[in-house]
Amino acid sequence: MEYRSQRIAYSYFVIALLLFGLQVVTGLWLSLSYFITIPQAIVDAFPFSTARAMHTNLLVLWLLLGFMGATFFMIPEETKRELLWPKLAVVQLILLVGTGVAALVGFLFGWTQGKPLLEIPRPLDVVIVVAALMFLFNVGLTMFKAKRWTVTQGSLLAGLTFLSVLYLFGIPFYKNLTVDWYYWWWVIHLWVEGAWELVVAALTAFMLIKLTGVERKVVEKWLYVELGLFLFTGIAGTGHHYYWLGAPKYWLWVGGIFSALEPVPILLMVFDTYRHMKESKLPFVPKLTWTYLVANVVLHFVGAGLFGFAHTLPMINYYTHGSQVTVAHGHLSFFGAYVLFNLTFFYFAIPRLKGFPDGQYKEKRGYWGFWLTSLGVLGMSLAFAVAGVLQTYLERVQGQPYMIAQKPIRFWMLIVFAHGILMVLTGAVIIISHLLTLKPAKA
Ligand code: HEM
Ligand code: HEM
Ligand SMILES: [Fe+2]
Repeated sequence: MEYRSQRIAYSYFVIALLLFGLQVVTGLWLSLSYFITIPQAIVDAFPFSTARAMHTNLLVLWLLLGFMGATFFMIPEETKRELLWPKLAVVQLILLVGTGVAALVGFLFGWTQGKPLLEIPRPLDVVIVVAALMFLFNVGLTMFKAKRWTVTQGSLLAGLTFLSVLYLFGIPFYKNLTVDWYYWWWVIHLWVEGAWELVVAALTAFMLIKLTGVERKVVEKWLYVELGLFLFTGIAGTGHHYYWLGAPKYWLWVGGIFSALEPVPILLMVFDTYRHMKESKLPFVPKLTWTYLVANVVLHFVGAGLFGFAHTLPMINYYTHGSQVTVAHGHLSFFGAYVLFNLTFFYFAIPRLKGFPDGQYKEKRGYWGFWLTSLGVLGMSLAFAVAGVLQTYLERVQGQPYMIAQKPIRFWMLIVFAHGILMVLTGAVIIISHLLTLKPAKA
């Protein structure tokens, strides 16, 4: 750690990790409801939709806290000056955590806006907007004052601004449901396939420069190409969500073609990282951080690129829309692209924040966490995918009613639960406790 104000990142990381644990627990409850019949009294008090809102909102909240912490870690080193208002960053964290707690408790009492993933009610949205403005001002003005612009800083600021502006579109309720869903997708799709990609690409570029000491221009050159492609395919690719909600027919073409191209930039990134690693004869240490980084790149491609491509063409999506196939893709893509990114950054930044020599730490226990969680989520996603293919066939080819088609699917939800409890939860507990108690490596 070179600058005092970087220390604020640590509080963001700790809270993000704790919320990650809670998110996994709520996921277990959801999968349980798919293979055992929960007594009606419990369902009345704690419905599936409430648990689902908690599971997904916790996910979004902890990932965003991770991105923010990572930004606070990066800004001083990139701009070569302290963050302008470190105290404001603390206030921002308190506001966001307060909103998170209020939202979770509110969900329990049915206080929700109802839109999946954006259930947070309107008054709390206002608090989030305030916190986002604090964040943008703090980060943006620090960059402007320092005047040491780099492509990495520019992309990060652009991504964060894009991310915040998009959130505004999900706040109003539009009376015409088709219009409402249009804008809902502006947030959901344009976040994960647009703004967030920009943010993690910039933060990854920063991490690579620091980890490898490779020349800045080598990494940043690719940032331009990839970002251009991401935005090009990602924005037009939003059309893959407009197929069946009452939008004009041309979206079938636009959405189909552009979203089918979306895996291309991700694939370029995989190749490029691989090529760099082969060419540069660097000692890839700490090894665990690199294991995370490689897994991040590979599972980003598998989850978003391959699992995304599998259902993005209109003639396939016609059958799979909104089934467990979607859930399989949702888990593997979020995990590969964003959960692994955050964990990589934590393993990169925490040893530096704690001042360990060369950022090296005792890695051993961390491998257990890594393999259990990654293989667990992979297994879980494959089980979701089998359930989804079964569901698609029984409901949409054979025309069976929803509840009848659920019967053979139960077994696969048991498999989901088993992976969840034995691997994902166990692994997450190991990762969280390892990261929170990191020890320096022996010299
Ligand atoms: C990291 C990037 C990505 C993430 C985190 C992600 C996540 C998700 C999530 C959570 C959903 C479900 C939304 C809902 O209905 O509640 C979804 C839907 C979808 N995703 Fe992605 N996705 C990503 C990239 C992609 C890519 C690159 C493609 C195409 C190649 C794609 C294709 C689709 C399609 C077609 C749907 C709609 C499924 C349906 O009709 O039910 N996704 N995505
Ligand atoms: C023990 C581990 C977990 C289990 C058992 C689990 C289970 C579930 C279940 C059953 C659902 C509801 C699907 C539906 O509505 O039919 C769900 C939704 C979701 N979970 Fe998990 N989950 C776990 C961990 C995670 C993790 C680590 C992530 C982040 C990568 C995640 C991301 C999501 C997302 C994005 C959705 C919404 C999916 C969609 O709309 O298609 N879950 N989860
Ligand atoms: Fe999408």
